[in-house]
Amino acid sequence: MKNLTLLFAAMVAMAVTLSLNSCSNKKDNVTPVKATLYDSLGGTVMVNDPAHSGTMIEKGRLGIRSVIDSTIFVIAADTRINGHFTVLLSEVTAGNLTGFTELSKNLTDFVAVGTGAKNYTYTGMDMTAAHDPAQNPRMNGKASSADFDAFVDDVVKGANKNGLPANLIGSLGKIIVSLKAQVVQK
Ligand code: HEM
Repeated sequence: MKNLTLLFAAMVAMAVTLSLNSCSNKKDNVTPVKATLYDSLGGTVMVNDPAHSGTMIEKGRLGIRSVIDSTIFVIAADTRINGHFTVLLSEVTAGNLTGFTELSKNLTDFVAVGTGAKNYTYTGMDMTAAHDPAQNPRMNGKASSADFDAFVDDVVKGANKNGLPANLIGSLGKIIVSLKAQVVQK
């Protein structure tokens, strides 16, 4: 009888443990929110926009815009690929920053959305059209695979100028490389 009581007590204890575990499992089943690359860059935290005093900007967007703007300057000086950007460069040389501002905005929106931003929309051309001189007269000649590699090299330089950690440069690089087939058209 004593043995039966002990066995019964053990079974009750086991049942309680199992039901507690299943409760905690249910809790574990809540889908975790996965941090995006955009979050790693600062995400939606609002900070002062150093380029527009009195204006706030998402920290993630500011990080991306800083990398983009640095990269545009690196590309402008890179004789391997700056020949594709003659329209932009002649405007800037003449003191007209309209095209630069538009490109900076479009590239920033594109990368922000691609890295997980929710509060911005990319409104520019799709990647195939943007890099087809027949559809985008601002693209001087089709890009080759070597041009693409030089472009990636320049993005890495732009990212390094802004102190982006190596793991985030790697994640950004993966996104860029995934678009190669659309950009390289010769
Ligand atoms: C994955 C890599 C690349 C991405 C994500 C990218 C993205 C973009 C975006 C978003 C635009 C703006 C489109 C618009 O305003 O509607 C653009 C324009 C342009 N891209 Fe790319 N691009 C890439 C690679 C390249 C390469 C390799 C070249 C040439 C070496 C290139 C040359 C240009 C030029 C010349 C423009 C027009 C610039 C202007 O508005 O003056 N891009 N690109």
